[in-house]
Amino acid sequence: MDVRAEAVVLFGATGDLVRKKLIPAIYQLALAGRLGMPVIGVARSDWDDDRLRSHARDVLSAGGRPLDGPVFDELSESLSMVVGEYSDPETYKVLADRLSGSARPVFYLAIPPSVFQDVVAGLAAVGLAERGRVIVEKPFGRDRASARALNNCLAAAFDQPDIFRIDHYLEKESVEGLLVFRFVNTILEPLWNRNYIASVQITMAEAFGTEGRAGFYDGVGAVRDVLQNHLLQVVALLAMEPPIADDADAYRDEELKVLRQIQPIDAARTVRGQYVGYLDEPGVAGDSTTETFVSTELAIESWRWAGVPFYVRTGKCMPAGATEAVIELRRPPRLLFTGHDAALPEANLIRFRLGQDDGLTMTLQAKAPGVRTITQSVDPGDFAAALGHRQEAYERLLDDAMDGRRHRFAREDTIEEEWRIVEPILDHTRRPSPYYKGTWGPAGEFLTDGWHPVSL
Ligand code: BG6
Repeated sequence: MDVRAEAVVLFGATGDLVRKKLIPAIYQLALAGRLGMPVIGVARSDWDDDRLRSHARDVLSAGGRPLDGPVFDELSESLSMVVGEYSDPETYKVLADRLSGSARPVFYLAIPPSVFQDVVAGLAAVGLAERGRVIVEKPFGRDRASARALNNCLAAAFDQPDIFRIDHYLEKESVEGLLVFRFVNTILEPLWNRNYIASVQITMAEAFGTEGRAGFYDGVGAVRDVLQNHLLQVVALLAMEPPIADDADAYRDEELKVLRQIQPIDAARTVRGQYVGYLDEPGVAGDSTTETFVSTELAIESWRWAGVPFYVRTGKCMPAGATEAVIELRRPPRLLFTGHDAALPEANLIRFRLGQDDGLTMTLQAKAPGVRTITQSVDPGDFAAALGHRQEAYERLLDDAMDGRRHRFAREDTIEEEWRIVEPILDHTRRPSPYYKGTWGPAGEFLTDGWHPVSL
């Protein structure tokens, strides 16, 4: 068992990620009695300890829920700042001093990749890298070659098992639950192949736009932001074979195997879209070709999946927010019960809802009321409510990295496979097709129609 970390260091402490995700996650860990260690912010802005503490209070109070006084006071006490340039050796000397009592610090790089090299070299120079763990946000690199270069940069200072590559979808209880549904419920396994499944449709739709992150988003786009990582991980969990053991590498070996069977995406069977109004947002280049929507089809060349299309779409400013995977089963071979003028029975659907209101539903066919024997789609139920409160992804993620649990982090080889798959649709010079906010993407284009409606 890996030892638990003894300090958390947040590089980029004054930034967006720390405000939106990490301060709330740290507070939740404190509430659960799982913090109890110094939390040190590092940044270039001239903040002192009090500024970080009042920032944390503001962020947490903005959440609307009352703060637990004693827990917040203890957390506040543990917060401190180190201010300095990332390229200045002095910054790391001060940090090393502050960490002299912590055998196992965790370093969270909530900073732009352009400064990773400086930070890693700085930590290595004062001996902090060799006893620490490093957490790196996605996207890991901009393509396969830069992912490799980044890995080499990190591996020059940190041991490979001490590098934690984030894909926060792996930390979502709902996403991890896919493995349990698949490998614990024997009802599913006999169906889980090309003999019974006609297609898989994965949607990650967001009803909002870039939300003040346009400066970051414009350099990234939907393929790099979520398709290369979150959505391919969901595909891998739905499609992989059972791991041979319950350990981090056994899971990641199976993910890697299935990713290797996915063909590079065909650009001709992909639609990239950009919502109307995006180009006017502050931080977006006037002639930007960045996509805010992508819809594509993946082919998995395996005995289990050959011929079963995996459709994947994601977009900002969609009509609704939904993250879900719909498994469409094959239609019955003898089409009884259709009547003379009635539509053919719909396929059975197994729907994994992976967002906020998560759960599993099934659409079966039942007899429609009336004299004639025709069918109608019904959902037998929804049991998300039964599972009660679960931790947020970023809370689990910090907790996992502190304990050195690796299986919910991406391994370097899986990241490189993900880049290989999306490579043909990276960096287009052609403008994406326009779509209006509140629609399901560019009208009349490949794969913008024909989806099963998302469940709301
Ligand atoms: C992030 C992306 O990784 O995931 C964002 O950078 C996106 O653009 C977010 O909004 C979605 O995460 P979640 O957990 O809200 O589905």
